Amino acid sequence: MKITVIGTGYVGLVTGVCFSETGSNVTCVDLNQEKIADLNKGILPIYEPGLKELVHNNLNKSLFFTTKVEAAIHNSDIIFIAVGTPMKVDGTADLSAVYKVAKTLGENINSHKIIVSKSTVPVGTTFKIKEIITNEIQKRNLDISFDVVSNPEFLKEGAAVNDFMKPDRVVIGAEDEDVFDRMKQLYSPFFRTHDRFISMDIASAEMTKYAANAMLATKISFINEIANICEKVGADVNKVRVGIGSDSRIGYNFIYPGIGYGGTCFPKDISALIQIGIENGYNPSLISSVNEVNINQKKHFLKKITNRFGEDLTGFTFAIWGLSFKPETNDMREAPSIYIISELIKKGAKVKAYDPKAMIEAKEIYLKNLDVFYGKEKYEVVKNSDALILLTEWKEFRAPNFNQLKKELKRNIIFDARNQYNSFRLEEQGFEYCQIGK
Ligand code: UDX
Repeated sequence: MKITVIGTGYVGLVTGVCFSETGSNVTCVDLNQEKIADLNKGILPIYEPGLKELVHNNLNKSLFFTTKVEAAIHNSDIIFIAVGTPMKVDGTADLSAVYKVAKTLGENINSHKIIVSKSTVPVGTTFKIKEIITNEIQKRNLDISFDVVSNPEFLKEGAAVNDFMKPDRVVIGAEDEDVFDRMKQLYSPFFRTHDRFISMDIASAEMTKYAANAMLATKISFINEIANICEKVGADVNKVRVGIGSDSRIGYNFIYPGIGYGGTCFPKDISALIQIGIENGYNPSLISSVNEVNINQKKHFLKKITNRFGEDLTGFTFAIWGLSFKPETNDMREAPSIYIISELIKKGAKVKAYDPKAMIEAKEIYLKNLDVFYGKEKYEVVKNSDALILLTEWKEFRAPNFNQLKKELKRNIIFDARNQYNSFRLEEQGFEYCQIGK
């Protein structure tokens, strides 16, 4: 099958590259010429484990990158729309890129295509896409048929290739049995023993993506709230987490307390879902609270630092371990580190930071106006700092040399936003150890 993927962001790139690995002929399109030129040289715009290898395996064999959208549309059976749907100031999803692609499709479509909406879009958007394409075809006085599909993506950054290659499920929202069959055919190489297709109507497929993310975000805000109550009553959330996770109805996954969820999906999709509710005359109070708890969690963590050092942090230096919103990615979008570092600097502190992958993003984009020192390795930033602040639980931070930390730090203080260490052992070694929910 000939596939075209429009948009080479996280979702589009992973989708295109993984399909190319199954032998499908894939053309990935993006307007950004520099990005496409780099991809054609095997240079990727993101760090994602396993992705580079797959690009190198398939480039110019079953995988092609181009800016020429018209030719890519003509040369395809199935077209995926995977452009961004960023959050607007009012919290709603910005669908302008999606609608622009729909218009381009309508202007260029030359034969029957299946058009798949992969971007996360509010309920009704796939039908709007259909309407835009139909109007454009009518303007051209042509009679070309096409089908639309909603096929939301559930990949996690840092594990995106694995998630795509071994999906828990593939949700397909469509209107026609033949279309379900074609989509199943496309994805069947990813299922070895039994398939995991879930077929439904288009609106339900669109809603499934929001509901999945809202459920996961709710688990995180729930445990963070429990952690905050634990702190007040003298309980230990690390124990409570294991205690509740053992109930299979609750489960151990996604109940790790921390500094709140960041990243591209949860903050954006939760805000969009709240707006979808409101626009449709429903007040989503639970989901609004999930959002509020998440915003407050960052402030709560900062308060631990100012409670210890005072509101005026002039003269203090803090070492930050971890900048990305989670490990195994260089993505800093909505990373809690942005808030924490900005606030520390605003309060007069000096900040020295180290992250295994995200320092370029930080320096060039997310913290570019802030005076942050970036270290080459993790101990360099700790040297002469008044405290270590762990923000992202990268593997290399999990078992540091605590003797070396004691030697390098000015004061033996660790603020841990991810509960990575054993508090008993650290206190035994003379550290002041401040974590979440204890
Ligand atoms: C998420 C969903 O998992 C994925 O299915 C969807 O398609 C896109 O959004 P992603 O944003 O890549 O994926 O990251 P995820 O691993 O889900 O983590 C999101 C945030 O939640 C991170 O900031 C992480 O630190 C935080 N988190 C996660 C917690 O604080 N506690 C947890 O127990 C789990």
